[in-house]
Amino acid sequence: MDPARLAAFELLRSVAEDDAYANLVWPRILGRHRLDGRDAAFATELAYGTLRWRGRHDAILDACVDRGIASVQPALLDALRLGVHQVQAMRVAEHAAVDTTVALVRARVHDGAAGFANAVLRRVVRGGDAQAWLAALVAEGRLPALDVDPPAHLAVATSHPAWIVRADHEALAASDPSRTWEDTGDALLADNRAAAVTLVARTLPRDELLAALLDEGIDAAPGRWSRLAVRVSAVEPGRLAPVATGAAGVQDEGSQVVALALAEAALDGPDTRWLDLCAGPGGKAALLAGEVARRGGSLTAVELHPHRAELVRSALRPIRGRHEVVVGDALATDLGEPFDRVLVDAPCTGLGALRRRPESRWRRRREDLPELTALQRRLLARALAAVRPGGLVLYATCSPHLAETDAVVAEAARLGGQLLALDEVPGVSLPEGATAGGALRLWPHLHDTDGMYAALIRRTP
Ligand SMILES: C[S@@+](CC[C@H](N)C(=O)[O-])C[C@H]1O[C@@H](n2cnc3c(N)ncnc32)[C@H](O)[C@@H]1O
Repeated sequence: MDPARLAAFELLRSVAEDDAYANLVWPRILGRHRLDGRDAAFATELAYGTLRWRGRHDAILDACVDRGIASVQPALLDALRLGVHQVQAMRVAEHAAVDTTVALVRARVHDGAAGFANAVLRRVVRGGDAQAWLAALVAEGRLPALDVDPPAHLAVATSHPAWIVRADHEALAASDPSRTWEDTGDALLADNRAAAVTLVARTLPRDELLAALLDEGIDAAPGRWSRLAVRVSAVEPGRLAPVATGAAGVQDEGSQVVALALAEAALDGPDTRWLDLCAGPGGKAALLAGEVARRGGSLTAVELHPHRAELVRSALRPIRGRHEVVVGDALATDLGEPFDRVLVDAPCTGLGALRRRPESRWRRRREDLPELTALQRRLLARALAAVRPGGLVLYATCSPHLAETDAVVAEAARLGGQLLALDEVPGVSLPEGATAGGALRLWPHLHDTDGMYAALIRRTP
């Protein structure tokens, strides 16, 4: 058996059986199979791609199995999904995709299932590419057409649960009501593409970071939106010298824009006490700490989970100034004197970062929302209680869901806050239309950042 396909199969099994997080277990699986370079890239595309496209693959497989995929044993179904992915989404010759899947089934599932796997995959191949399959599913009445039931159609065509399709559609319409279901389809398809690596310059100017990378022969370019961002391609960022020393970090450009939106917003009066209420793993805390240190102040970073608080400490270590990490519940910890600027980067469904977490869309449930939104409201209230009159709170999520974004900040006035328009952020070239309605909304398909939301609130006197 070839190790790349075995590794991908192991990842799928581990996600299904052990509830594993793909990003956490994948490096270990690659290591166990001694995969690196091009082989590792092939295995990653196969494994992550299959997890992302599972919804569409399953709809096609369901049409190729007489009693439906509910009748197929889970390990066998995972092997078939890998086969479909190679046939429809990778440049693998059809016979190679079928033969290697049959060999995988023999080696890892059950000798007796090999004939079945062969027959099913040959049906998939005979049906043509993914577009031909979607058209056939519609023609056979197995899938509603886009104009008949847009969320149900896009759920299969873009491989997302229907509740996420609806959530993205509503969030896109919030800043531009003329947006169509096709736009929503584009947004969802961007979740199926891997994100580029972006670095943030932490202890040196961005131009010096860029020059150091170019000197090392790394393909690097300035980011599009943040004055601190550098985009790099085809590298393992942890191996780059500036990242290893903490002079730079790996951080999505959208996250940089969010942290800068708080750091750069105009503020009257004292400006030396900053607070990050939900800091782990510390990407935004490190950026904020650098900015407040330049103004002679310091950052207090709160994180509930000790292992994440440790990551915050490591991120803050190379940053100039004396910053404090508090391990505990932000809702129940006394944080002392009021702060001038407060970030609430609230725990959320993470629907804006699905491109980074290939299996997450299948694990998240709409039923997770009430508990999360209740926590988000309490954290926003805590932030407004912790900031001085006239001080600023930035409420952010890596989710576009309206219940986690606009609906939460709508509480601001009741909690003693006034919503400010985020139409200009010094040091950030804000994309046109991204702040329609006052809050900032970034999208992978429009801005090539994670999907981020940020609203700026001033504590009323
Ligand atoms: C969205 S993440 C923050 C990401 C972070 N700002 C960054 O840029 O790296 C939310 C964090 O809040 C933490 N958290 C959740 N509930 C909390 C609470 N009650 N008090 C403090 N931290 C909490 C979570 O453990 C998680 O690390």
